[in-house]
Amino acid sequence: MVNSVFDLASGCLHTASIDQKLESTQRASELLARGQIDFSGGGEPLPITETVFPVFPELVDPRQLPRRNVGSETGRVALLHALAHIEFYAIHLAWDIVYRFRGLPAGFYKGWLEVAVEESTHFSWLCRRLAQLDAQYGDLPAHRGLWDLATDTCDDLLARLALVPRTMEARGLDVTPGMIEKLSKVGDEESVAILQRILTDEVGHVALGSRWFKKVCYERGLDPETSYIEFVQRFLKGGKIRRPINYALRKQAGFDEQELKKLELL
Ligand SMILES: [Fe+2]
Ligand SMILES: [Fe+2]
Repeated sequence: MVNSVFDLASGCLHTASIDQKLESTQRASELLARGQIDFSGGGEPLPITETVFPVFPELVDPRQLPRRNVGSETGRVALLHALAHIEFYAIHLAWDIVYRFRGLPAGFYKGWLEVAVEESTHFSWLCRRLAQLDAQYGDLPAHRGLWDLATDTCDDLLARLALVPRTMEARGLDVTPGMIEKLSKVGDEESVAILQRILTDEVGHVALGSRWFKKVCYERGLDPETSYIEFVQRFLKGGKIRRPINYALRKQAGFDEQELKKLELL
């Protein structure tokens, strides 16, 4: 039986159950391996406001979040919980780019479906680590802003590619090495191993975002570098990306040196 990629995406986006979200993502991965997914057609997507998130974690302003000093176990749990939350939203961000933007080549959908599967794996690793520390996802409050840029960019694929993979996910490349260093200093090797594997995958996600961003720019007759800066100025608070910028990882992920220097000067 052949399944529509848009129905599979909907199976994750339109349920409140974390287990169902993960199961439907896993099922999509198996169907993809068997070549049983149809990437065509699909009609009209439901509006982004129909996306369903679980009741827990409670979503709060980031200033109300617990401190994440990794020197204590409580602080490590807070950090791992915050990262699990990012990965949980990343599953939705990957599925939503599949679900919302129709009529694109099969390669586009396959690429982002694979990202959704990797994000769900990242989420599961962090949940397992939290369980080892007697905690679980939903125990603590979490950042409420992670869906904002998805909503802001729901009607334009180019804006979505600029602001989600090339901004939100790229931010992970800037900050994860520092977290790995801190966790390593306190001897939390289990968490270090997880973050290292996540970081490797995230370079791939940003690179995929860069490839499609540039492709869509060329199709629209736009210069990718200028367009990206325009999106940053239009959508981000203060009109700039946060510092520090990890040049080495971002270059592996499809940014170029000149572009990064310009971004740093904004
Ligand atoms: Fe991830
Ligand atoms: Fe990612």
